[in-house]
Amino acid sequence: MKATMIISKDFKIGEIDKRIYGSFMEHLGRAVYGGIYEPTHPLADEKGFRKDVIELVKELQVPIIRYPGGNFVSGYNWEDGIGPVEKRPRRLELAWNSIETNEVGVNEFVEWTKRVGAEVMMAVNLGTRGPDEARNLVEYCNHPCGSYYSDLRRIHGFEKPHNIKVWCLGNEMDGPWQIGYKTANEYGRIACETAKVMKWVDPSIELVVCGSSNRHMQTFADWEAKVLEHTYEHIDYISLHTYYGNYENDTANFLAKSLDMDEFIKSVISICDYVKAKKRSKKVVNLSFDEWNVWYHSREADKQIPRWSIAPPLLEDIYNFEDALLVGCMLITLIRHSDRVKIACLAQLVNVIAPIMTENLGASWRQTIFYPFLHASTFGRGCALNAIVNSPRYDSKEFCDVPYLEAAAVYNEEKSELTIFAVNRSLDEAIALETDIRDFAGYKVIEHITMDHEDVKAVNTKDNPMNVRPVKCTNSKIEDGKLMSVLNKLSWNVIRLGRQ
Ligand code: AHR
Repeated sequence: MKATMIISKDFKIGEIDKRIYGSFMEHLGRAVYGGIYEPTHPLADEKGFRKDVIELVKELQVPIIRYPGGNFVSGYNWEDGIGPVEKRPRRLELAWNSIETNEVGVNEFVEWTKRVGAEVMMAVNLGTRGPDEARNLVEYCNHPCGSYYSDLRRIHGFEKPHNIKVWCLGNEMDGPWQIGYKTANEYGRIACETAKVMKWVDPSIELVVCGSSNRHMQTFADWEAKVLEHTYEHIDYISLHTYYGNYENDTANFLAKSLDMDEFIKSVISICDYVKAKKRSKKVVNLSFDEWNVWYHSREADKQIPRWSIAPPLLEDIYNFEDALLVGCMLITLIRHSDRVKIACLAQLVNVIAPIMTENLGASWRQTIFYPFLHASTFGRGCALNAIVNSPRYDSKEFCDVPYLEAAAVYNEEKSELTIFAVNRSLDEAIALETDIRDFAGYKVIEHITMDHEDVKAVNTKDNPMNVRPVKCTNSKIEDGKLMSVLNKLSWNVIRLGRQ
């Protein structure tokens, strides 16, 4: 089939905030313990962090990592994770029915993020706790010295403040599964009061207020409007979360699920702007899509995991090739909305619904979804351009008018590079794509990276870690000033053009 696209420097969406390539580490399963931290591992450094995992995270160039939850944060006492490790309490962790040993806390996590070159996006507990504990944590992390909590941090060996800039006001507070679940008005009030005191301690911080846990929550939209009415002038971003699965084994429908993400983003933008108008405010509230991914493979297995174990193998989705394609479509969706989505976190990073897997005391490897994220994070920096796509479409079980071709374009002016990210959703046909690159005269194809596989269910494992991986191909060339590409059926594509 044929498709066309027009890309012009004039069709600007906006500068991409690199934080849309963020991720998430929760105290959950083997994310922290056995994932990033395993002092007995042969590759552990002097602080107990796995060097093999550090290298893989660095490869992804993740600029910001949300921590410590997730559902976990709603029952967490941050004070349990500071000071001498041998004195830290073991707790019953009620979000995931595990034992939390508190060997890793805020200081250790900050040290780890320095090793991987990321900043921390810290969540405070608004489930069992409130403004007091939140402002104390800001003081502990960000105040230089001369107060109880800042001096306590210095006693703990951290003379300089951590200067954590982005903070989440709780997690998924609209969800009945959440410890300390609240109505929109209850949450809106406590979020507002917490935001005030946190910013009084450090006015330079940015705050993310909780939106709905997903677009299909019954309270969706009303929740956002009410919460924003309470908090609008005190916060900077509102959160969005979404996870998709292919429970019905319907690939065409599954790959269309990024359209739901697109609708979700558009709706939340409208609600933010509605509250802005209602309040006659000059301020724009942006979006933090701080949990997104595919999540469904491990749901049944998780029901068999006994309660109260330390670092059990929870949420260990083994991702297949079609999952990587949907993750690619979701990344394209985030890039296309980068004028309003300023932060996004692939949930999560290691072992728990993650691009990186590890074996306790053993190997680490890249899951299929590692690759589209790697490409977007590496080449998706610069200005997002509104690629005008003309593609044949299909209807699936839940979605109408799904374009076979999903694409986004990013122009990096500094490097004089244009990158096109494209997914061909067709199960049976390649797309012959003709792209009008009118303002990019003289640009040549640097490379066309593609990822496809004859088996949509193909996975990467410890024993076969390279089964699904990207390769360079010769499917793109410039002809008469047009970019002519072939996108194989069911494929992820990165087409890079540059002056050299
Ligand atoms: O990422 C896994 C869980 O999904 C998080 O803890 C929670 O916020 C969401 O429901």
